[in-house]
Amino acid sequence: MTLVLENISRRFADVDVIKDISLSVEKGEIVGLLGTSGCGKSTLLRAISGLDQDYRGTIAINGQVIQGVHATTGFIFQEPRLLPWLTVQDNITFGIKGKQQAVFDRAKRFIEYVGLTGKENLYPRQLSGGMAQRVAIARALVTSPEILLLDEPFSALDAFTKMQLQDLLLEIWEKYQTTMVLVTHDIDEALYLCDRIVVLRDQPGRIIKTIRVEQQHPRNRGSVEFAHYKTDILNQLDFSQ
Ligand SMILES: Nc1ncnc2c1ncn2[C@@H]1O[C@H](COP(=O)(O)OP(=O)(O)O)[C@@H](O)[C@H]1O
Ligand SMILES: [Mg+2]
Repeated sequence: MTLVLENISRRFADVDVIKDISLSVEKGEIVGLLGTSGCGKSTLLRAISGLDQDYRGTIAINGQVIQGVHATTGFIFQEPRLLPWLTVQDNITFGIKGKQQAVFDRAKRFIEYVGLTGKENLYPRQLSGGMAQRVAIARALVTSPEILLLDEPFSALDAFTKMQLQDLLLEIWEKYQTTMVLVTHDIDEALYLCDRIVVLRDQPGRIIKTIRVEQQHPRNRGSVEFAHYKTDILNQLDFSQ
């Protein structure tokens, strides 16, 4: 799976929100889109997802220019977006075609994988924020996506749950080598997870820097090198004093 963006621009009501963004993502890479609120990260991710098609430029997956939602993409949003009237099990299998037993078995595997065994029959209102987000992760994985698009997936969670789910994401990556594009405004999260961090800023949003994080996973959250990268990123975003 490779993803190639060429000169992506998007306007809303005559305002350029992102302009001429070009970026290539290699198979198995975890790429972070990092920037302050409003610089167009979600707009860019929605274009990649195919949910929004009113952009200029081209987006190609495996050399094919995409039109609409691509079958090999999975999404994880900031809010889990579960259907309140369906159980954990049914939220995960909703929309998957196939023989009932096969779908059930597949869901079971991913429910176990995200640590929700025994919670299959609960409804979203009975789940904590972290559990609900685990359901959203299982729902994305059950379709075996080649590319996962994540829009601030952990930003509504407490610090410890966030760290657990970041580690879950890395486990998934180790097991499936899923290519990931992760939108975040959390520098520590980007440094912990990403192979490459694309720093965006301004209106219209544009790429101001790309940082390659060479460290192998699992990384040490308190690593001294991270402080160095962090200062660099803060400088780029004009947050250093
Ligand atoms: N559907 C929309 N209609 C009008 N303006 C929008 C729409 N979506 C996003 N915008 C504007 O585009 C800019 C970038 O938004 P967004 O991509 O959500 O930023 P980010 O995710 O980086 O915080 C913001 O100024 C936002 O108000
Ligand atoms: Mg956003």
